[in-house]
Amino acid sequence: MVKDILSVENVTNKLGTHFIGQSIVVYPQLASTMEIAKIAAMNKVIEGTVIIAEEQTSGRGRLERGWISPKGCVTLSIILYPDIKHLSSLVMVASLAMLHTIRRVTGIKASIKWPNDVLIKGKKVCGILIESAINNKNVSYAVIGIGINVNLNTRDYAEIAPIATSLSDEKREYVSRLDIIRNLLVETEKLYLLSRNSDAVHKEWLDNMDTIGKKVCAKSGENIYEGTVKSVSKDGSLILLLPDGKLVNFSAGDVTLVK
Ligand code: BTN
Repeated sequence: MVKDILSVENVTNKLGTHFIGQSIVVYPQLASTMEIAKIAAMNKVIEGTVIIAEEQTSGRGRLERGWISPKGCVTLSIILYPDIKHLSSLVMVASLAMLHTIRRVTGIKASIKWPNDVLIKGKKVCGILIESAINNKNVSYAVIGIGINVNLNTRDYAEIAPIATSLSDEKREYVSRLDIIRNLLVETEKLYLLSRNSDAVHKEWLDNMDTIGKKVCAKSGENIYEGTVKSVSKDGSLILLLPDGKLVNFSAGDVTLVK
């Protein structure tokens, strides 16, 4: 049951951004907002165009995983044309924008798990997928895909129930998707602009990252390492201290906590 209407008018009315969300398309249902966003980006739609789906039938996540996207949640993609030197900070921008949004709308303090999950009390509430096209060292486009478990009874989904949560599970009440989307667009624009000429976004991202100092198992392709997370560099790569004292860098992959 959804209790708010995701019309273009409702999302954009007095939004207060300069470019993110100034052009929005809302679909009742899509396979994935990523595909439509990428086609739109190839057609050079204006920067900040947002593709929203009320539900996705083939939502996808990182590492070829799926993303459960029934009505009541928020699934959207934001199209940007960043300079290549700012590409790696998009994940920091998006995850911090989510943290600010969740705090403002629900009062809950969420945290970040490297590389791009947003957690509440250790359970995943939001996933971020960044896809881009690069041509001759120039970014043709970047799409930030964000999926947020807003109104979702996670117990209805056995495959994610042990590891996921939703804003409605945490608040025990309906959470406005409209408030989430509007705040998210404002925060994303603010942090995107800030990330272009300051280290503040990287710093705040690190300050809110649960993974730092933890013993983890890191998987990258075929390689699996166990070690302690020292830090995450400005380009987003994880710096792991191995038991033999060596430091290794991961630019992509996944980590799980070692108990
Ligand atoms: C992950 O945690 O692995 C990333 C999940 C990203 C899901 C979002 S929902 C909106 C956009 N459309 C998709 O199909 N995926 C992203």
